[in-house]
Order: sequence, then structure tokens, then C-alpha cells
Amino acid sequence: MQTFTQTDRASALEVLKQERIKKLGEGQCVFFTSLGCSKNLVDSQVMLGHLGLGGFEMTDDPAMATAIIVNTCSFIDAAKQESIDTILNLADYKDPSKGKCEALVVAGCMAQRYAYELEKDLPEADLIIGTGEYNKIVPLLVALREGKLETKSHVEIPRFIHTEYDPRLNTGPGYMAWLKISEGCNRNCTFCIIPTLRGKLRSRSVNSLVAEAKNLAASGVKEFNLISQDLSDYGVDLSEENNIKNLLKGLEAVEGVEWIRLFYFYPDELTDDVIEVIRESKKICSYLDMPVQHFSDRILKRMNRRITGQEIMGRVARLRERVPNMIIRTSIIVGFPGETEEDFHALLNGVREAKFDHLGIFRYSDEEGTPAYKLLPKVDSDVIEQRFDQLHEAQRDVVRDKNTDMLGKVVRVLVEGEHPETELLIQGRYEGQAPDIDGHVLINDSNSKVLSVGDFVNVKITEVLEYDLIGEVID
Ligand code: F3S
Repeated sequence: MQTFTQTDRASALEVLKQERIKKLGEGQCVFFTSLGCSKNLVDSQVMLGHLGLGGFEMTDDPAMATAIIVNTCSFIDAAKQESIDTILNLADYKDPSKGKCEALVVAGCMAQRYAYELEKDLPEADLIIGTGEYNKIVPLLVALREGKLETKSHVEIPRFIHTEYDPRLNTGPGYMAWLKISEGCNRNCTFCIIPTLRGKLRSRSVNSLVAEAKNLAASGVKEFNLISQDLSDYGVDLSEENNIKNLLKGLEAVEGVEWIRLFYFYPDELTDDVIEVIRESKKICSYLDMPVQHFSDRILKRMNRRITGQEIMGRVARLRERVPNMIIRTSIIVGFPGETEEDFHALLNGVREAKFDHLGIFRYSDEEGTPAYKLLPKVDSDVIEQRFDQLHEAQRDVVRDKNTDMLGKVVRVLVEGEHPETELLIQGRYEGQAPDIDGHVLINDSNSKVLSVGDFVNVKITEVLEYDLIGEVID
């Protein structure tokens, strides 16, 4: 007779459970589209992880899919329009002459914000899932298929954030991952709808993030891009040891981690302590994404930012003084309600003086539901356009000078693969270039053919283009 220990029974039950989960998606095939930002992409990857574990197959042909999922964005009008267009285009595959789709799912920020309207005006949608419910994708799809779904919309106040125990399919290149360290936001910037869409701040513990980083590093990830709505508030909702410094130290110690890059770090929380951690580290990139939004004190106040233009300039100077070769990315909004010529000149001068390495310029977009929606006077769209062009021109000069300074320098480049337009060039990035948003280093010597995706090589910069750098391998 064979005896079984408690552990044997527990693992046998676990196997049974896993086997049963795997059957949930039997015969189902999913087409998935992720819109919006990298934070939304992480949610998509978690949904894909759950679907994969549930035995759902994936397809890149919507005509073959029994379920189509659109993870939407709802940040500004253009993003809403893109979400709606995508949903309507994909709804065509519900027509049996074109496809097999039985379940059209709208998830993400648009679902969170407009569930009621979508239910009323978009009968093609079978399931609407908010930003705090996406981890329930498998049971919801199963219930829909079995006709047991009681309501179409599953949208609550978002409280969920994934952990290292949630399955996640890293759809990006194998050497890079986004690491979402917290979700939601406790700030109330008057132009921003995101706290309404994503809820209050909730951070993941240092242990959870280090565990996820270990899993990702074991699968070959070398570059970790830390994201959230507000990186600088990380951990304020948890116990004291869960703070950004401990997190960065924990991540640095993970074997296989080569680059850690920080995004969405608000200037008012950028202390000397944090700057010191960046300075001392060999793995934290000399790169910071620090959204400043404006330089006019009057506009910063109207935006409910907790800082003045002069203080922002002080943070920029401090960063550059303490961290050699510091690369700073920021975003600004032009045409905020009440922005006068004087305010605009403060912004323009700020951009010229701060000399940001990368700059995202956004035209103010009036979003219903935000405090700024009620602020007057609105700036004329022609004026916004003119100001946008002036800022763009000013930044072009800054970038031209900065790129020229790069000539002759040697930088460590992460190889991304062949250039999408020509096999004669290899494309990569140095630490001052973030994925998706900044430029590239293009390697143009014949020896580069032996390089593999995910390799690090030293490259000497020999030429500069408007946003990209060109160079040759020197080792
Ligand atoms: Fe991101 Fe768009 Fe939502 S920017 S947080 S997906 S509104």
C-alpha cells in the first residue's frame, strides 16, 4: 500500500486544478489589441497570461478569433476616437460571412469611463471590463459562452493590481519589460482624468516586484522600465521599508538585470537621496522621465502642481550636477486654460533653458470630468497651434546641439535587431534612449552582422540625424 503525505495531496490537487483551468478555453481562439500607454500594455500582458493559462489559443488574424478583446485608452479625444474606430472595425468579424467572433470584449480605460454609454450605444460589445477587473477575463468569457453572464458591464472602483503570482505574457522583445510598480494616483492635477480611470494609488511591495523581476530576468529580460501613474509616490500606502530606494536596491541585486530606467517621477518628490541612488548605481540608467508640464507659476498653480518653475529648474540643475551625462525626458502641456502670452513665454524660456534631452509637447485637450474642463478662458486652437510650433522649433535647436555633442563619444548599446527599413543597418539604443519614445543608435559597419538581439556592444558615434545617432562598433 502506498501512503500519501499532505504535500502529495496538495500537489495532486494543484495539478488537477491546473488541468481543469487549462480546459476553460478549449476550442476558443482570441485576437487581442492593446491601445494606449505602457501601463495598459502591462494589463494586456496579464490578461494574455490568464488566457494562456486558461487554455485559450491566440491568433493574429481577427477572422479566426472566437473572442476579440480591445484594451482601450481614453486619455484624450484622439485616443477615444482610436479606441472606438478599433472596436467598430473589429466588430465586423461578428458577421459570420467575415469571421467567427462570438464575444467582442471592450476592456481598459474607455470601458472604465464610459461603461454605461458603451452598453447603450455599442450593442456589438458583449462584455465590458473595467481597469480593476481585467484579471477576471477567463471566468467572464466562460460565463459569457455558457450564457451565465448576468450583466454586460463589470466595472467597479479599481482596486486591483497584479502581483508576481499573476501569469503574464511578455509580448515585448525578450530583452525588455515594463515593470508596473504601482497603479492609480493620489494627485489631483486639474487636467488629468487618469485618477478617475485608474483609482487611488496602490503600490506593490518590494518583495513582489523583485520576485517578478527575477522571473523576467530568468526569461532573458535585461532592461527594466519602471512605470506607474506616479513613480515618486511609490510605497506611501505600504509599510516604511517599501520605498523607492529599497526597491531600486532590490532590483539592482537581481541577477541578469542590466538596465533600470525610471518613468513618471514628479519633480516635487525628487530628493537628493533619490538622485544619489541614481548616481551611485551602475544599473540605474542616467535617464529620468520627469513630467514638468509648465514653467509659469500661475499655470502650475492652476494645474494643481506642487512646484514652481524656479524649483523645477533647480531640480534639473541638481540632477545634471550630481549625475554625469544625465538624460532628462519631460512632457509639457501648451494652451492650458488661462495661458497668457506671458505664461507661454515662461514655458518657452523654460524649455530653452532646461535643455531637456527628450520632450513630449501636448496640446491641452479639454476633458469632461476634470476640474480644468470648467476653467476659463480657453485658449483659441489657432493660438495653441502657433505656440506648439514655437516650442517644437525651440526643442529642435536643443536636440541638434545635444546630438552634435554626442559625436565621437562611445556609448554602450543594447542591440534590438535589424532596422525595420533596411537590412544594412542594425538598430539599438543606448541608456539615454527609452523604448518606443526616443530615438535609436543605428550601427552601420559590416561587422555588426554578427551581433545578436539583446547583446550589449560599445559603439562610437560618427554621425547624427535629427533624432537618431549613427555609429560603429568598437569592440
Ligand atoms: Fe494609459 Fe490611456 Fe489609460 S494613457 S492609463 S491607457 S487613459
